[in-house]
Order: sequence, then structure tokens, then C-alpha cells
Amino acid sequence: EQTSLILAFETSCDETSVAVIKNGNEILSNVVATQIKSHQRFGGVVPEVASRHHIEQITICLKKALQKAQVTYTDLTGVAITYGPGLVGSLLVGITAAKAVAWAHDLPLIPVNHLAGHIYATNFVTPIQFPALALVVSGGHTELVWMPREGEFRIIGETRDDAAGETYDKIGRVLGINYPAGPTVDQWAQRGQDSFDFPRAMLKEDNFDFSFSGLKSAFINTVHHADQVGTQLNKQDLATSFQAAVVDVLVTKAMNALHKYPAREFILAGGVAANHGLRTALQAAVQRQNVPFVMAPLKLCGDNAAMIGAAGAMLQRHGARADMLLNADPGLEF
Ligand code: KG4
Ligand code: ZN
Repeated sequence: EQTSLILAFETSCDETSVAVIKNGNEILSNVVATQIKSHQRFGGVVPEVASRHHIEQITICLKKALQKAQVTYTDLTGVAITYGPGLVGSLLVGITAAKAVAWAHDLPLIPVNHLAGHIYATNFVTPIQFPALALVVSGGHTELVWMPREGEFRIIGETRDDAAGETYDKIGRVLGINYPAGPTVDQWAQRGQDSFDFPRAMLKEDNFDFSFSGLKSAFINTVHHADQVGTQLNKQDLATSFQAAVVDVLVTKAMNALHKYPAREFILAGGVAANHGLRTALQAAVQRQNVPFVMAPLKLCGDNAAMIGAAGAMLQRHGARADMLLNADPGLEF
């Protein structure tokens, strides 16, 4: 079979990334420029600031990615690009760059869904076994995705309000932690006691949807109330109790889904997959059902273009192809 060599772009949120991927599972380069520092003083990602950074970084990342991979445009067999979901202004920067390369070098343009990318980050560990079930948890998403066969994605459950990572970032802010708060809350959670009884929403409902806004409010109210009456709450205990509630909900719903959708493999993907408590609990629960548990390497859990290249290679085999009219789709489902 012919070698596939894909140039991939990812600019859906606050990471500018360009990668070169061989045969869908070998990283020749994966350059990631993060903007976290620029968004920190605002406590979250500011879309306009993000777009401007992408514009500054995109050609620099492109040059580096080609250099590191030691390839030229003529070696490439396709250009993969995230076209949604994400921030419209950010997506457009990557889409424009990808189109320019594809047009100038007469290469096929492959449109990639950002969530498919997160899922295909596991392709660098082991090829996906179908049917597969995936939990994608990130700053913008909490989704259960059923993949009956390669190239087919069906969302069977999603958050009705805040995403899991977003909830970490918001409660972390109340604890005085810089954006993104997830990693620090996770560390604190490993050192405290589960002593606050936070709500677990929608556990008894007969669906695979999530809701985290009630948990977020309960957490913030608990902290504010303590401030008002002048008591000091133990921050590590708060983090432990919060994480216990999040993990409880995610694991319970994921296992309910696994009962209904008999997968040959369970995939945990997205930035929050780096969470220690979630990883350990979910892996144990999935393996108890004798289903293999797979997750991406830690450094590929967050946003990056390598995962877009992996998904792009698969999608290209299935005939996915976009033309110069490709537009950003901020609310793209599948
Ligand atoms: O996938 P990602 O890099 O970007 C999006 O597509 O959103 O995910 C970033 C999110 C942030 O909300 C961050 O706080 C969260 O992932 N995160 C974590 C951990 N590491 C990153 N949340 C909980 N525990 C972690 N260890
Ligand atoms: Zn993401």
C-alpha cells in the first residue's frame, strides 16, 4: 500500500498546532504553540485574543513541522484540517492555512472533526478495535461516542450545560487557581478527604447525558457561604469531594453506556483524560467488564495536530474530501 504522509493543522481553541503524520500512526513532527499565558489573566480563553495568536503562530508552526519531519510539500499526500467544533475565528486561521497549502501544491484537503481527532490520538498507541465506545472529556466537551465501525461516529450522550474540563476550570478559579485549573485541582484531589457531599446530576435518568452546572453552583455556594461566615474550608478536601462527584458521574454513565453498547474497546480521550482520578476509576470499571481500556499518551490528550493527522488518514481512506469552499463549523456534531 502507498505511504500516506499527512500535514495536519489544529487551531480550534487556544493551541496552534501543525504536525506531519506517516500512515496515520507515526508522528514525524507535532509542533504545539500554546497561548495559555495570554488567556490566564482573563481566567479563560478570549476568542479574539486566540485568533490573533493563531495568525502570529501558524506559519511559524508550519515551517517547524516540515523542518522537524524533514519533508517538503511534494512528499505530502494530503492536508488534514480541524473545521469544527471550536471557536470560529480560531478555526478559520487553520482552515485558511490548510487551504493555501492544498491549493498551492494540489493536495487533497481532508476535513476533520476535532472530537474524532481526540479519539484518534489513541491510534498512536494501538489501532482502534470496532465496535468501540469513547468518552471524550475536554474543556469544551463531554461526549459519549459510539463507533459501530471505522469512519462512523454517533454521539449517544453529551453534556446539557458545562463541559467537565470547564467545570474544573470554573471551580478552580474559586479556589484561586490559574486557568486551566484542571491539573492543579487533580493534584489537590489526591491529597484530601472526600468530606463534602456534592450533587451527582442525572445519574438515575435513562440516558447518557451529563449535567455539571448544578455541581459547579453547589461548589461555589459552599465556598462563598464559608467566606461569609468566616470559616476556613480545607481546599484539598473540597477538591477531593468535587473530583469524587465528577468521576462518579462520568464512570457511572460510561458504564451504563457500555452495558447497552457492547464495545470491543473503550477509549478515554480529551484534555480531562489526563485526570488521575478519572483514569484510574474508569480503567478499573471497564476492565472489570473484560473490555480493553485504551487512552492516548498523556502528551497527546490535550489539543494537538498529530491526532488530527491520525483521524485525517483514516477519513481520507474513507473518501473524505473538502474543496476550497470548506468553512468553519463552530457547532459541528459529526
Ligand atoms: O482537550 P483540551 O486540551 O482542550 C479542549 O479541547 O478543551 O482540554 C483542556 C481541558 C481544560 O479544561 C483543563 O482544565 C482540563 O482539560 N484538564 C484537566 C486535567 N488536565 C487538563 N482536568 C482535570 N484533571 C486534569 N488532570
Ligand atoms: Zn480538544
